[in-house]
Amino acid sequence: MTVSEARKRYLDFFAKRGHAVIPSAPVVPENDPTTLFTSSGMQPLVPYLLGQPHPSGARLANSQMSFRAEDIEEVGDNRHTTFFEMLGNWSLGDYFKKEQLPWFFEYLTSGEEGLGLDPKKLYVTVFDGDESVGMDLDTEAVDIWKRLFAEKGIAAELVRLGTEAAGYEKGMQGGRIFSYGSKKNWWSRSGTPSKMPAGEIGGPDSEVFYDFGPSTSSGQARHDPKFGKECHVNCDCGRFVEVGNSVFMQFIKQADGSFSELPKKNVDFGGGLERLTFAATGNPDIFLIDVFDAARAVLETRSGKIYARSNLVENNGADTRSFRIILDHMRAASFFIASGIRPSNTEQGYVLRRLIRRSIREADKLDIKDAVLAEVAEGFGAAYADAYPFVREATQVIREELEKEEAQFRKTLAHGMRELEKMGTTIDAFMLFTTYGFPVELTEEIAKERGIVLDMQTVQAKMEEHQALSRAGAAQRFAGGLADHAEQTVRYHTAHHLLLRALQMVLGKEVHQRGSNITSERLRIDFSYGTKMTPEQKAEVEKIVNEKIAEELPVTRTVMNKADAEKLGAEHEFGATYPEQVSVYSVGPKDATADNPKFSEAFSLEFCGGPHVSNTSELGHFKIQKEEASSAGVRRIKAVLE
Ligand code: ALA
Repeated sequence: MTVSEARKRYLDFFAKRGHAVIPSAPVVPENDPTTLFTSSGMQPLVPYLLGQPHPSGARLANSQMSFRAEDIEEVGDNRHTTFFEMLGNWSLGDYFKKEQLPWFFEYLTSGEEGLGLDPKKLYVTVFDGDESVGMDLDTEAVDIWKRLFAEKGIAAELVRLGTEAAGYEKGMQGGRIFSYGSKKNWWSRSGTPSKMPAGEIGGPDSEVFYDFGPSTSSGQARHDPKFGKECHVNCDCGRFVEVGNSVFMQFIKQADGSFSELPKKNVDFGGGLERLTFAATGNPDIFLIDVFDAARAVLETRSGKIYARSNLVENNGADTRSFRIILDHMRAASFFIASGIRPSNTEQGYVLRRLIRRSIREADKLDIKDAVLAEVAEGFGAAYADAYPFVREATQVIREELEKEEAQFRKTLAHGMRELEKMGTTIDAFMLFTTYGFPVELTEEIAKERGIVLDMQTVQAKMEEHQALSRAGAAQRFAGGLADHAEQTVRYHTAHHLLLRALQMVLGKEVHQRGSNITSERLRIDFSYGTKMTPEQKAEVEKIVNEKIAEELPVTRTVMNKADAEKLGAEHEFGATYPEQVSVYSVGPKDATADNPKFSEAFSLEFCGGPHVSNTSELGHFKIQKEEASSAGVRRIKAVLE
């Protein structure tokens, strides 16, 4: 079974049952600034689930490109990916449980129209109830499942588990249908009923799991006791894989915390296309599906290592994890770049950069020391030529972007390595990170290899202190995609310093700041200068700022007396009053450190309360949006980081 065939069968199956097949929405949501990525099929359809009529009717089906940044650390096992396609079918106030559950079961088990899975390998869960939404056990779903299994000659016992803990301790207990509370069998974009904000929609759900069997072909037990004494459908050992979720979207949360029924009851079904495909192949490894074949072969050739194909238990070694992370990340990166995202330090571009950099680290672990990512990504265009031709059309730009980013990060790594070597046995992981962007976990690994003990607790404490803002930002982004404003504002602060200095270089030393305003969207500076800037002057200013960003200059903060700072010639705002002790931020030179800031060689020197980024490499691309008069003798520039 190929991904393409499983997708086609699914869409044909639901088209035959009266569904309009709609195209996938973009993976970067249009007109939704609250999230970075489309992470489920229902997300672009929320207005219609709330009651607005859909132009294509009340029965819809599709395959939606989705990306879940919060799963980035999970990638490496047999079933998690960040990017995936979510197969969906929707009833917008049309059919409900008694139609949807049998259809999905038929798609799973029918050899002619569906995947032809063995029904004995399927297990299901239903909602056990929750007082807060006034619901008891979903007996309707239980009865439907009992009938469906009975039709296949399978006796299906219900085991009521309720809270998660009870289920985890007791194992399978001979059951086929398991009921769990809200933590497992309630779905909304924000999780359980209590976590949902007012106006959010959700409902009880029913999930289907595929059982890869208690033991492997070589007779080894599949369940790893590390995940708990007994195995069960929601166990994380990898024996059971969730392949579909039927959400009975019937509630909306009210401002007072209660739940009301939606005007129309909807069905929101989501099934992972890749998981359904690998269940159909019977091999418990999502990375063995056809779309990864070409990329996997490149990695095997380049590393001289063979991707372990045997089975789950033996297939969890470090090399396998590295292979899987690169395969996942490069597929996601290909779709991202083809969708117009470019590596940067903000928003979607930052996630793309993280995927690329993680992949380089993993390639390194596989002993691939030269650029490889563009070659790995090469095959995804062909693998998705039928459903997503835009990926193949972007072959060239995907190659260029990956080559550029890989070269840059490998340079950072090489540079950091040189500095690390100079440090001998007293490696300063914190300094390597803040000054050279060298990943702390890499320093930790190298130290370990060399038998050097690092005080990681101190390093972590320092990192937390220094990076509270950017860490919070990153965590927030990965948690579900809300754009981080604090972190972006910090970047604009630093860009503001670079801009002022560049203006002085291009327009003359008399240019001084007369006012400023920074938001997470842009920076604005008012400065003393009498005439309109020419296009050449603006281009020159942009060029200087971007050069300083590319030079990856450290930003250091020094506390000193106001008089000393003035003597240094640090820039300060006209009319502002400063305390006796001030902090001065300097940008550059390349080898400046907090202990030796080298003010005389600094590119920019300013009185400032901060905060700032620790290195200009974190800024992204600088662009002037507008230059205009502010008042007599004062011009105003608005600029953005992209
Ligand atoms: N919206 C449901 C999910 O994402 C189907 O699991």
